[in-house]
Amino acid sequence: MKKDFISLADLAPAEIQGLLDEAVALKAEWQRGGNKPLLGGKALGMIFQKPSLRTRVSFEMGMHHLGGSAICLSPDEIGLGKRESVADVARVLSRYVDGIMARVFAHSLILELARHSAVPVINGLSDYNHPCQGVADLLTIYEKLGSLKGVTLAYVGDANNVLTSLLFGGSKLGMRVVAATPPDYAPSPEVLEPARRFAAESGGAVEVTADPHAAVRGADVIYTDTWTSMGQEAEREQRLQVFPPYQVNARLVSEAKPEAIVMHCLPAHRGEEITDEVMDGPHSAVFDQAENRMHAQKAVLASLMR
Ligand code: CP
Ligand code: NVA
Repeated sequence: MKKDFISLADLAPAEIQGLLDEAVALKAEWQRGGNKPLLGGKALGMIFQKPSLRTRVSFEMGMHHLGGSAICLSPDEIGLGKRESVADVARVLSRYVDGIMARVFAHSLILELARHSAVPVINGLSDYNHPCQGVADLLTIYEKLGSLKGVTLAYVGDANNVLTSLLFGGSKLGMRVVAATPPDYAPSPEVLEPARRFAAESGGAVEVTADPHAAVRGADVIYTDTWTSMGQEAEREQRLQVFPPYQVNARLVSEAKPEAIVMHCLPAHRGEEITDEVMDGPHSAVFDQAENRMHAQKAVLASLMR
């Protein structure tokens, strides 16, 4: 039966660790001169309802490195659910390509694509979660800190799609994930309840606070993301009033462990959720993290499409 990659909540801890191990191996092989053509002759169809730099380019180059190819379909080209039903798009694309990656607004669209596709479907971000980012983030932490179990990650900002995947992935692998959000922008019970269950099984922990200073105390990793995600543009002015106390700046970073790393999925809004000083400073892991999207996704692609 075909497998999809829709949420880290669906994977066993050993499966996530397996992806990380494969990503480490593929990255080392690529650094030695190139990957073996594990996906020789295969093609990935990429559907975008929202803009992208990292997801688009890292998937396209990832397929290229593995001997395959990728086709990018922009919002205007296929009109997912408008020009043609989501189910028919899935049925037709399945006849041409060996895997589908989709970036959508409503998470239900990913589920619908997966239901009607004969080939694996990869979630390249929905309003609900961002599992490809999650694997790349775990890979980055694993590389920089040498382990995940017992590592404290303080996420400071908006409880969005990126936090959902960090909560699921981190809690599955025994991390302590502390989310510091304004009270009205806290993670939902639908995300917290499973994350707490995964943490109880792995020996990790999930905590929520409104205090960014308390969250970063003793943290190994500080993570932030935009205060206004794609699709929330109408709320931007209101969010700009609420979120400034949650800015990741040099003072906040100085309250974490001295060797703490700072992460951001990008794109960053410099001067809002993160300052230039931190983005470009000695704690920043953000560009290694961006590179790791490609290595992590090659492991995902190989696991689904080989
Ligand atoms: N982090 C991330 O998904 O970046 P893009 O929106 O540029 O793909
Ligand atoms: N939370 C952000 C992530 C972008 C990669 C968004 O959804 O816009």
